[in-house]
Amino acid sequence: MTTRFGQKLNLSKIFLSLVLFIPLWIYSEPATAIKGIEAFNTRWVVPFLSNGSWGRGPHSNAESCVDCHNAGTNPYMFDSSNGKINPIVLKIRNLNGKSGHPRYGNELSLFGITGKLPREGAFTLHWKKKKIGQQFIRFPSPQITELRFGELGRSTTTSIRMGRDLTSIGLLESVDENQLKLIIAEQKTLGLNGRINYVIDPINKKTEVGRFGYKASSPSLLDQISKAFRDELGVTSIFYSDNPCAAKQEICTGLNNVGGLEVSEDNINAIAEFLRATETLPRDHKNETGHMGKSHFEMAGCNVCHRTDLNATSTNSEDTHTVTLYTDLLLHDMGSGLNDGLKEFQAQPEDWRTAPLIGIGEHLRSGGSLLHDGRAKTIEEAILWHEGEAISARDNYLLLKPEHKTLLQSFIKNL
Ligand code: HEC
Ligand code: HEC
Repeated sequence: MTTRFGQKLNLSKIFLSLVLFIPLWIYSEPATAIKGIEAFNTRWVVPFLSNGSWGRGPHSNAESCVDCHNAGTNPYMFDSSNGKINPIVLKIRNLNGKSGHPRYGNELSLFGITGKLPREGAFTLHWKKKKIGQQFIRFPSPQITELRFGELGRSTTTSIRMGRDLTSIGLLESVDENQLKLIIAEQKTLGLNGRINYVIDPINKKTEVGRFGYKASSPSLLDQISKAFRDELGVTSIFYSDNPCAAKQEICTGLNNVGGLEVSEDNINAIAEFLRATETLPRDHKNETGHMGKSHFEMAGCNVCHRTDLNATSTNSEDTHTVTLYTDLLLHDMGSGLNDGLKEFQAQPEDWRTAPLIGIGEHLRSGGSLLHDGRAKTIEEAILWHEGEAISARDNYLLLKPEHKTLLQSFIKNL
């Protein structure tokens, strides 16, 4: 990840500086954030292996946060046959969108513990094509190839989700609910139906604004991070203290018991601090091409959802400054092409949180692909998938002259 100081935050560098006693302030990052980078990079292993922290599993999908949140995540590289860790998760939810599966939990886990507990199953991506305008564009559909703990059953549904670069994502937490209500009212006058996904916060049990995840179903970094520890790595914390052990309960709960919770509250807080501190470098849109790209973006109506006026205040370094997020944090019906059949709280199958375009440049430059399942290889493909509430913006884009399309795209690439 790149900080606003333009440095790649690289754990090995930090270790090196610790070993060589080079003072850490040269990175100009707060100490908690540095601890957060370390926790974000920590490799989790099954006890009692010696090459990482103990506590992974018994079921898991990766060994560390960075496995899925490297900037260059891309499902086109997905190859389930070689057993490599990949950034694609098969999310599982019951039909009412409120909970996971009684035996498989919130996602299909591709790793168990060799010789002791089989993985939950496996899946591959089957690529299909859809014609939009003159173009054929590809999208993945999941094919489950193995299920070790019985059928999923008819009351559940699945959805492909791609882990991705998290630069600037932490800033979503500071957006004020009242600002969102004003945006909703303004969108209503334009015939749009933006909505807040109100969710029950699993930590404080209150109803909160959903902010994180592609359907905005997690209210806070604390929740999203501790849930990721549990669901992706099988690492327990004070917030999610049970391993996802519904499958083969008796074997599962006995395994992997190192006594007590596996990741500390301090480390979860430190990761939250780190995610609040990683920001996209401010880029200059003040030159003429930047201005022109932005004005085409606005004239096409992209900013009705990808707001150029929704700012977060960043206070993590010496100076306080505002950062434009290019989202409205709201759910929108994006039409049948993006319908994944899965509900999350108030988000319906065709509803998605407006993707925050802030940080997208970093994601694209390192080879990442776009949309919730990474189906779009280019900005133009991502736009082509915009239907439902976004169809008129898409059609406005399609009517632009080629050189104006290029200006709009390069504006986005610089975010
Ligand atoms: C196996 C892959 C995988 C691993 C490992 C993983 N994540 Fe994720 N992460 C995802 C996916 C997929 C999503 C999108 C989830 C959704 O839409 O429900 C996500 C979403 C997130 C988000 C919200 C992003 C947004 O746009 O709102 C944060 C923050 C996050 N993860 C942090 C973490 C942290 C911290 C860890 C380590 C404890 C971690 N993740 C480990 C795959 C992973
Ligand atoms: C009605 C609201 C709305 C409008 C208008 C809209 N978008 Fe989007 N946009 C979304 C949503 C929601 C997503 C996320 C969809 C998903 O992940 O499947 C998205 C995703 C994207 C992405 C992919 C981002 C990523 O990180 O994966 C790009 C690029 C994008 N939009 C560009 C545009 C452009 C350019 C326009 C104007 C031509 C536009 N959008 C108009 C709601 C909107």
